[in-house]
Amino acid sequence: MQDERGLWSSKFGFIMAAAGSAIGLGNIWRYPYIVGENGGAAFVVLYLIFVLLIGLPYMLAEFSLGRATQLNAVGAIDKVKPGTKWRIAGFMGIITSIGILSFYGVIAGWTFGFIFKSIAADTSDFGAFIANPLIEIGLYAVFILMTTLIVYKGVASGIEKWSKILMPVLLLIIIGLIIYANLLPGSSAGLEFYLLPDFSKITFKTVLAALGQAFFSLSLGLGLMVTFGSYIPKSIDIFSAAIIIALTDAAIAIMAGLIIFPALFAMGENPASGPALVFIVFPQLFMQMPGGAIVGAFFFVLLSIAALTSTMSLLEVPVSYLVDQKNLKRSKIVWLVAAFVFIIGLPSALSQGSVDFFTNFGLIPLSLSPPDFLSQMSFIFGDMFLTIGALILCIFIAWVWGADKAARELEIGSPLFAKFAPLWKILIKFVIPIVVFVILLGIFKISGV
Ligand code: PFF
Repeated sequence: MQDERGLWSSKFGFIMAAAGSAIGLGNIWRYPYIVGENGGAAFVVLYLIFVLLIGLPYMLAEFSLGRATQLNAVGAIDKVKPGTKWRIAGFMGIITSIGILSFYGVIAGWTFGFIFKSIAADTSDFGAFIANPLIEIGLYAVFILMTTLIVYKGVASGIEKWSKILMPVLLLIIIGLIIYANLLPGSSAGLEFYLLPDFSKITFKTVLAALGQAFFSLSLGLGLMVTFGSYIPKSIDIFSAAIIIALTDAAIAIMAGLIIFPALFAMGENPASGPALVFIVFPQLFMQMPGGAIVGAFFFVLLSIAALTSTMSLLEVPVSYLVDQKNLKRSKIVWLVAAFVFIIGLPSALSQGSVDFFTNFGLIPLSLSPPDFLSQMSFIFGDMFLTIGALILCIFIAWVWGADKAARELEIGSPLFAKFAPLWKILIKFVIPIVVFVILLGIFKISGV
């Protein structure tokens, strides 16, 4: 992330920052549990289609608006259509990033806690761990604090330098774990669940979950990539960069599934275990592995860093808006926003068994989301708000600013894009808004709203 309004120094630096935001707990924690809840392989097929036909073209749209206007989402919308209701898309992004950060921080806290749990070879029950309010709130507070300090001190670029070195290491561990998990007796049933689609399992809810996960995992729908786009120099080929970002992100999610499902079936666990899923499976995997305590600790360190590059970018959305548009002081606003996020996340932290009211919250019907507050936040903000925000921003870019202008921006620095521009315009003007709208309509029908 850039601290002052500057430009990425290289295409690689830009790709790493955007990929740093995209790759996180969404790939390794959220994706497997959503796949598990939504019946496996058929969901995976839908998810991949959405990444390629909706996520990637939509990511290009956010980048193009950012680079053309050199502003964050609210500023960019204001510049194109001053004083109109379209700004709502920008505000939605701000609210959504706060909502996402509040539950994401809780899971990031678990990830951080598991570093120590692994080192101590602590095999105590995960259910008891997350039902302990002190541990939950403590870890959550630590993670939000780390994120805040990084954004406050403006040392994000330092973290990104580290993650450039460390993420390839995470990839190596993931590949090693795929091999290990698939050699376990009984693992092939998991591979079948994960890779042999049964399309009769697809419902409207599955479709929305796949679409929401595609947006969530690519960090789309809240205008963050507009801000990232505003730092891209004109010489950089946005098109090829976006392809690399989207494919890497999807590949890491797919790989996480190749560990989790074989291991899960080998251990006789339930794929529909909700947000706890990977925290049940990974520790068991490390426990039976030679040297597993060290590999496990290292894995959770790397996952915490991957989470940190995502939480940094999430906190940056409201902070940069308040600093850029409201002229508030960054050093104060960072703490205020973080404190606000922290309070909103408390019910999520207490929803995994410690407080019954939040554990069985159930505001959203069960047919759409498990009843615990955290899962419900993940559905409301991670699926619904993100998708609605993306729909509004997509219509704004394609129809108000204009798909032609956006395409011209994308052609700068990317001769290859010219070939795809006609297809891209059809996707961004018609296919994406219509598909997203129909899916949302279906969900509103189911939920009876
Ligand atoms: N894409 C991140 C992940 O998959 O972990 C989560 C995320 C970060 C979503 C930033 C949205 C966002 F703006």
